[in-house]
Amino acid sequence: MRLLVTGGAGFIGSNFVLRTRETRPDWSITVLDSLSYAANRASLEPVLGDGAGDNTVRLVVGSVADAAVVDPLVAESDAVVHFAAESHNDNSLDSPWPFVESNVVGTFALLEAVRKHGKRLHHISTDEVYGDLELDDPQRFTEATPVNPSSPYSATKAGADLLVRAWIRSFGIQATVSNCSNNYGPRQHVEKFIPRQITNILQGTKPKLYGSGLNVRDWIHVDDHNDAVIAILEQGRPGETYLIGADGERNNLQIVQLLLELMGKPADWFEHVNDRPGHDLRYAIDSAKLRAETDWRPRYSDIRAGLEATIAWYRDNESWWLSAKDDAERTYARLGR
Ligand code: NAD
Ligand code: DAU
Repeated sequence: MRLLVTGGAGFIGSNFVLRTRETRPDWSITVLDSLSYAANRASLEPVLGDGAGDNTVRLVVGSVADAAVVDPLVAESDAVVHFAAESHNDNSLDSPWPFVESNVVGTFALLEAVRKHGKRLHHISTDEVYGDLELDDPQRFTEATPVNPSSPYSATKAGADLLVRAWIRSFGIQATVSNCSNNYGPRQHVEKFIPRQITNILQGTKPKLYGSGLNVRDWIHVDDHNDAVIAILEQGRPGETYLIGADGERNNLQIVQLLLELMGKPADWFEHVNDRPGHDLRYAIDSAKLRAETDWRPRYSDIRAGLEATIAWYRDNESWWLSAKDDAERTYARLGR
């Protein structure tokens, strides 16, 4: 299998490449990544250029929105896993254009190359395309939930998903889509909620909760997400959408208090900051279809153990995150969050 992995120097994509080297060592992987602020080349360092001959990992620096870069890379691959995106809601509220360019134009460019060369595509998306749920709503998102995005980020992801669905129906491309809930684990950018709070605590700064802290996210370990992606690639039905989730609903206050406990701080050692405009209240995933059609099951059912390992990773890898931390906190200071 010759795999093109877009966005493979980011959080989920780099963990995907590392995990695939472990579980599918005979696959060759080309990463296409623009090496934006969100990327970290060091994440791929352990595997870049490993393997013999074709069985290797290489990095191409370029944009998925650049058809001249994308076309030959798709032509030489058997399948594409499309992670590349601008991914942070707060940034999309501050400056939406890069989200339209990478997420919508980038997905369009890939779809055209996949159509031209007749290649298999798996498009990575998010539960945020479905909008949000009330805290007491007994329903969870399913593949039949209508899209109803709230932020510029989620609107561009919904737009990309709709492009993929249209290319499936109108042009018959062999593509699948997955919409996953909030990921946590090693190598996540420090702008995101869990790494921001872990690194705050490591630096002696109080965790920051947006608004009430009662917003709920449905947490999944990044390796569980990536194993589900491999399961869909190998066992999913082309043309279908699959929701990925691990029954991990927690509110933000619960997560902060668990981090404080695991890191030896008092339960009230945090502060409330300005809320995010349009802040989605709750996400929740019903992954029954994925579990019925593939053998995928989450392995990290204990979020406490998953967070302990994640804290240890950030403690042991300060050089990976330190300079990004300063930049992220400067942005948050400007936004009052
Ligand atoms: P990330 O921001 O950590 O990584 C994104 C990567 O894409 C970066 O390496 C960046 O350089 C690259 N990229 C951005 N624009 C590009 C472009 N135009 N061309 C090439 N590369 C480009 O994001 P992540 O959290 O790893 O998310 C990866 C994917 O998973 C995204 O599509 C996101 O929407 C989706 N997703 C994320 C989560 C989550 O909880 N983080 C959950 C569900 C789905
Ligand atoms: O649901 C999947 C989505 O999860 C992905 O599509 C996105 O790419 C990913 O960034 C994530 O989006 P969220 O907006 O849910 O994640 P974020 O880490 O930014 O915030 C998680 C929750 O924590 C959210 O309710 C906002 C809150 N928050 C965030 C930060 C950074 C805080 O309370 N304090 C903070 O400092």
